[in-house]
Amino acid sequence: MSDNPYQNARGNKDKSIANPKPPGTLKSYGSETEGRPGTREGQPFLIGDDMTGGYGTGADILHGCTISVDKGQIAVIVGPNGAGKSTAMKAVFGMLNVREGAVRLDGEDITRLTPQARVAKGMAFVPQTSNIFTSMTVEENLEMGAFLRRDDIATTMEQVYDLFPILREKRLQPAGELSGGQRQQVAVGRALMTKPKVLMLDEPTAGVSPIVMDELFDRIIEVAHTGISILMVEQNARQALEIADKGYVLVQGRNAFTDTGKALLDDPEVRRSFLGG
Ligand SMILES: Nc1ncnc2c1ncn2[C@@H]1O[C@H](COP(=O)(O)OP(=O)(O)OP(=O)(O)O)[C@@H](O)[C@H]1O
Ligand SMILES: [Mg+2]
Repeated sequence: MSDNPYQNARGNKDKSIANPKPPGTLKSYGSETEGRPGTREGQPFLIGDDMTGGYGTGADILHGCTISVDKGQIAVIVGPNGAGKSTAMKAVFGMLNVREGAVRLDGEDITRLTPQARVAKGMAFVPQTSNIFTSMTVEENLEMGAFLRRDDIATTMEQVYDLFPILREKRLQPAGELSGGQRQQVAVGRALMTKPKVLMLDEPTAGVSPIVMDELFDRIIEVAHTGISILMVEQNARQALEIADKGYVLVQGRNAFTDTGKALLDDPEVRRSFLGG
């Protein structure tokens, strides 16, 4: 039996993502990521609370926007193009200043911390674009992900390769030679190399086929089952809300709807306005 914490075949169809090994016991990376729901004083594990702000001295893009995720859960942000979904993610990760509001991780106010300091606290972010080093090999990309670590990264790399077997096969190939879906696996794998408590993904399934999207979602569910919280933006709103513990519909930098993924899928107004009926 493997030590892979993600190992769980979940009926995968696509070999490029599917784990060929039989299902095993899901284990977390460490005691810190043990899957307990909620956190201190009933607060969410990670929250961008009432965030207002924009880029540099420009106009505000976010207007009192709140997004959060609980331990080991999946929170999904959907909404029209330009709604501020990526901006909200960047605000939570410290890539732009929030003028008002706060970001808290496990009860600690991290609003003023740099992105690097947030990585050290257990946050990992896969941005929407330019999320891999195309001229570097797959393995070098994974090593880059672990740049802050001083401990042995071999075990984590094996776990990533077990999660995404195609990456092991292509580990010595430049990442730029991989398909869109494989590149997204490199990006997610690179983020996992930091052993994060929270994994933030901005459109992880952008540009991939429906089958690859389903497989990638299955892998993301496995990661969440190890106790890692997932906060992700998705253009494939319907499919993403199906796997979401909590969903946010953002419109013009504001929370338009917030509920469980299922409730949003069942809401006639959300369906009509944002899910194509
Ligand atoms: N670096 C930037 N500097 C200035 N304005 C920006 C910057 N990035 C985005 N914006 C503006 O912020 C607003 C929200 O953009 P954002 O990228 O957050 O939307 P989004 O919801 O992620 O859209 P999409 O679905 O297309 O990815 C837009 O009006 C955009 O022009
Ligand atoms: Mg975006």
